[in-house]
Amino acid sequence: MIGGGPAGLLLARLLHQSGIDCVVLENRDRSYVEHRQRAGILEQGTADVLRACGAGERMDREGLVHDGIELRYGRRAHRLDFVELTGGRRVLVYPQTELVKDLMALQLDHGGAPLLFEARALAVTGADTDRPRIHYSHQGREQTLTCDYVVGCDGSHGITREAIPERARRTYERDYPYSWLGVLADVPPSSGELIYTHSERGFALFSMRTPAVSRLYLQVPNGTDPEDWPDDRIWDELEARSAVDATIDATIDAPREATGDAPRDATGKDAPWRLERGPIAAKSVLPLHSRVTEPMRYGRVLLAGDAAHIVPPTGAKGLNLAVADVTVLARALAQRYETGATELLDAYSATCLRRVWCAVQFSSAMTTTLHIAPGQSPFETRLQLARLDRVTSSPHAAAELAENYTGLPVG
Ligand code: FAD
Ligand code: DHB
Repeated sequence: MIGGGPAGLLLARLLHQSGIDCVVLENRDRSYVEHRQRAGILEQGTADVLRACGAGERMDREGLVHDGIELRYGRRAHRLDFVELTGGRRVLVYPQTELVKDLMALQLDHGGAPLLFEARALAVTGADTDRPRIHYSHQGREQTLTCDYVVGCDGSHGITREAIPERARRTYERDYPYSWLGVLADVPPSSGELIYTHSERGFALFSMRTPAVSRLYLQVPNGTDPEDWPDDRIWDELEARSAVDATIDATIDAPREATGDAPRDATGKDAPWRLERGPIAAKSVLPLHSRVTEPMRYGRVLLAGDAAHIVPPTGAKGLNLAVADVTVLARALAQRYETGATELLDAYSATCLRRVWCAVQFSSAMTTTLHIAPGQSPFETRLQLARLDRVTSSPHAAAELAENYTGLPVG
């Protein structure tokens, strides 16, 4: 495997459990990989895979189970109850940093596959032979690893994709005309569930990492310098975008409240919404892209996770897609080594891409419904509001969102 992010580490664990030898080459050092601030939401299926491979113990102790989300627009709050809408599915808040630490500890401290840090893959050759090779540099020396299969888990800037000849490779992509300013704040989340906010000032997302740490995002123009956003400006903007009037719809299934003496939050409690402010520990700007490379397999080289596809983060699909890919791939490689059959391996690319494109569509729809594009016309804004109105008033439209958010079936 090239890359020791979630995709490479989980695949190594799954293969190890099937008795298949593998090596993971990771460009960075352990601490860098463990502390890279990224995703935070695990679909139910993702959590199940982690549990089944022995990486779920801390996740189940410390992860926060979420039964729904809140959508805010037009100064009103609406709750979507995933459990009701999907027949019992939920998501889990568990930071990618912690998941990576757990997988790495399993691999390094409990006799897993070798994991080489500061080992940078330079090129992959022989994709269409029985012995593909990874050329890599480690401890100042260039070396070659000869493999049965090479799996590129090397993220969006990886080199494995290039092993697929240009004539056999297609890339589909879209850049979005806005970015996210992501903030980590040492303050308890102001709401028990995530809040996705549509506002004429731009999108805002209120998420969390732990009961004591909030993760917050603001739509900002492309090219924004985080230094232009001092802490007070961030909090003021989060507050302005999330302001709600006193009258709130409690859930999609509940009758709409025409009036209400006391303001209620989306969970139905008699409490006005208040954004808690606190010290901001980190901030960074993330541009939004969709990109899919097809096929995800060429000869004996396979791509998994961000190496094959990236989605804008709205809807939290990136990490979950990576886990789904390697779950499918681990099954396929197990079949290949146990029986010699390559049926699942042959189907790998098509099996994953079907689900990938659903997630690309979902992430794109969430993104374009909730963000305000530069120069967006009032007509386009009305379309967004109509879409949000459907999602918060029709159980069918809401169930479609809830199914995608909690995760489509794998395989
Ligand atoms: P990665 O996590 O990128 O891992 C790839 C690994 O390969 C890295 O460790 C890298 O160092 C290594 N590597 C790269 N090149 C080489 C090489 N040549 N040789 C050896 N090793 C190499 N998703 C969400 O759902 N919600 C979010 O909020 C969210 N925020 C994100 C913020 C950022 C800044 C980024 C970049 C992504 C974010 N994502 C988010 C997406 C999510 O984190 C990814 O989808 C997930 O990390 C994919 O896992 P992966 O293992 O495929 O790739
Ligand atoms: C987070 C990121 C997302 O893109 C999202 O839709 C939900 C949560 C997060 O980082 O917590």
